[in-house]
Amino acid sequence: MRNATYETGAFFVRDRSWHPKAYTPDYKTSVTRSPQKALLSLENTVSEITGPVFGHDILGEKDNDLIYNFARPGESAIGERIIVHGKVLDERGRGVPGVLVEFWQANAAGRYRHKNEGYMAPLDPNFGGCGRTITDDDGGYAFRTVKPGPYPWPNGVNDWRPAHIHFSIFGYGFAQRLITQMYFEGDPLIPLCPIVRTIADEAAIEQLVAPLDMASTVPMDARAYKFDIVLRGRRSTMFENRMEGN
Ligand SMILES: [Fe+2]
Repeated sequence: MRNATYETGAFFVRDRSWHPKAYTPDYKTSVTRSPQKALLSLENTVSEITGPVFGHDILGEKDNDLIYNFARPGESAIGERIIVHGKVLDERGRGVPGVLVEFWQANAAGRYRHKNEGYMAPLDPNFGGCGRTITDDDGGYAFRTVKPGPYPWPNGVNDWRPAHIHFSIFGYGFAQRLITQMYFEGDPLIPLCPIVRTIADEAAIEQLVAPLDMASTVPMDARAYKFDIVLRGRRSTMFENRMEGN
């Protein structure tokens, strides 16, 4: 285990004006998924302020490389090769080490490898679509993948998800768990997406859009996008109101 300092103590209350409301009828499934009764506010107990501590020994060799982690020997996933990197920060801007960062996404054609997937776009036999890594002593993380394609989804008559990568971040305690999505700079589908539009604050949406980061590009290999993730507090990355899918 590394020598990082792990904090203990209660977490700040999640900012409900920054994160999307649970009930957002333009995002149809939020209607049945949202609470029907008033929320109760509870003090943090040891169950919420502690969590498992992850070590690099739980990771497989290719867990942070979606181009190769499901590919046959000598082959690789089809698509635009990219590096996604950034920092997991706390609400005071400090890097959070030892955090498990998991990510999953559609392939370059916009299709998931999932039994409930209904989109006609092709599967890529060399692309599984999920991986994980653990933040370093400064809270940094990075992985390699192919840029996911946008895909249609049954909501309105003609709704398309912008290209996106799903993230799960497991911080110091169960109360700090964050599920979110990353979008790509310049994607015209972002402002049209009913899921994106559940976020009221434009600055909160902007926080989910990863800029192209040419400084971290590997020439003749992969472009890079930078995505920092903030756990809790006013500057938190928005919390998605569903846990997986879409
Ligand atoms: Fe998705």
